[in-house]
Amino acid sequence: MKVFIEKDYDALSDKAFEVMKEVLDENDHPVLGLATGSSPEGLYARMVEDYKEGNHSYKDVVTFNLDEYVGIDRNDPQSYYTFMNDHLFKHIDIDPANTHVPYGSTDEAAKEYDDQIKSVSIQLLGIGRNGHIGFSEPGTPFDERTHIVDLTDSTIEANKRFFDNDVNKVPKQAISQGIATIMDADKILLIASGADKADAVKAMIEGEPTIECPASALQNHKDVVVVLDEAAASKLT
Ligand code: F6R
Repeated sequence: MKVFIEKDYDALSDKAFEVMKEVLDENDHPVLGLATGSSPEGLYARMVEDYKEGNHSYKDVVTFNLDEYVGIDRNDPQSYYTFMNDHLFKHIDIDPANTHVPYGSTDEAAKEYDDQIKSVSIQLLGIGRNGHIGFSEPGTPFDERTHIVDLTDSTIEANKRFFDNDVNKVPKQAISQGIATIMDADKILLIASGADKADAVKAMIEGEPTIECPASALQNHKDVVVVLDEAAASKLT
């Protein structure tokens, strides 16, 4: 793992964009694995700005998102499909047919999605306070592929900010790429910001790989770049 510690969220987003740019420059047909949430917002803003400046086109780019809630409409303002359109897709020249966000509540839907994911050039990840990546929660076997997940109380609590601060409104399940799916990517870029991620970051980087911290599986990947701000890095030795 290569670990970069940046002063704050802005500097972290600049660094993440540098890593993303290299992948866009080095591949004729880049396949981007994408994440939602607060962590990548700064990176997506930089990708949009860079596109508007005419530096990169997304005509030959294909994307696969990590996850989506079960039980909310695709066009719900809180769906990850809506998030991706609002933060990235509608601002760039990507062909909507080349963007993929999982959807569904069955094992068949999960398998069908997993089968489509091929040759990911870079997989972008955030990390949950409990160490989850995608929505692969603690206890998920490392060999799991895209699957239906019961969200933990910790994740529901963390995400209620998007649902009127009401845990009862947060979906209780998600469809998510598994750790084995994520590990197939050529390169992984994980972003973490804020003190509430510091324990999970420490377990990911300094702990033994264990299913209790799904992100610790990344220690077994050959090309992982971790970009942290100082707060998220504050518990590293
Ligand atoms: C989102 C995802 C999640 C988030 C994680 C951190 O697609 O897969 O694993 O990356 O929950 O969320 P934020 O960035 O909002 O702190």
